[in-house]
Amino acid sequence: MKILLISASPRKEKSQTFLMAKEVARGCDDGKTAEIIHLCNLKIEFCRHCEFCHKKIPYCLIKDDVHKVLRMMLEADGIVLASPNYINHVTGSMKTLFDRSSHFIHCLRLMDKYTAGIVSSGSGHDKNVTDYLKYYSNTCGAQFAGSVSARAPVSQEKMDEAFALGKKLCAAIKTKKEFPAQLRIIEEHKKHFRMLMERRKNEWKEEYKYWEDKGWL
Ligand SMILES: Cc1cc2nc3c(=O)[nH]c(=O)nc-3n(C[C@H](O)[C@H](O)[C@H](O)COP(=O)(O)O)c2cc1C
Repeated sequence: MKILLISASPRKEKSQTFLMAKEVARGCDDGKTAEIIHLCNLKIEFCRHCEFCHKKIPYCLIKDDVHKVLRMMLEADGIVLASPNYINHVTGSMKTLFDRSSHFIHCLRLMDKYTAGIVSSGSGHDKNVTDYLKYYSNTCGAQFAGSVSARAPVSQEKMDEAFALGKKLCAAIKTKKEFPAQLRIIEEHKKHFRMLMERRKNEWKEEYKYWEDKGWL
């Protein structure tokens, strides 16, 4: 089982969000298989909306570190998305990564994978942020095993919750757990993109081929 932890705090090891996210990884297979990415250590530019990734998947013309992260996401069974709450949203580094992964959304590339969300903030009012992490996961085809959010500094109770979330994530991967409400959202999303693929098939040639090869059209 491969677990990938993506941390979007600029505070690296001092990050309260990362502290909890590490507990998720520990709950999951004792953290033995977890790979860790601190987005602030990487160079990831903004999406330029050139649509090259739709035409020539999975390539992007910008030569930076996003390719490595996207490849690791594709190889993972479970992804822990960890972001502090910055003005009621994920941090810019996490949003930039998501924007650069728009091919994942068009082709539901995280299908059959599971994600979990970790958020910390000054207030503990993080529903918008955890909901957004779930939304991103579902639009990429992944099911969201759950989330923990906490007001900093993080309490032992929240660390225990994060550990339990790791166990839940691990069990979901092992048993291929189905979350029926999320599967309905993923199916709706697929329906929408099936329509778009037909409409844009002459431009998004490689993505259209991906859909054809999957037998989704
Ligand atoms: C730019 C910025 C925006 C923030 N916006 C919010 C916010 O909207 N609501 C909130 O409760 N805390 C907010 N905070 C506080 C952080 O979410 C909080 O300190 C968090 O625990 C930092 O996580 P970290 O230790 O993982 O970096 C903000 C902090 C920064 C630097």
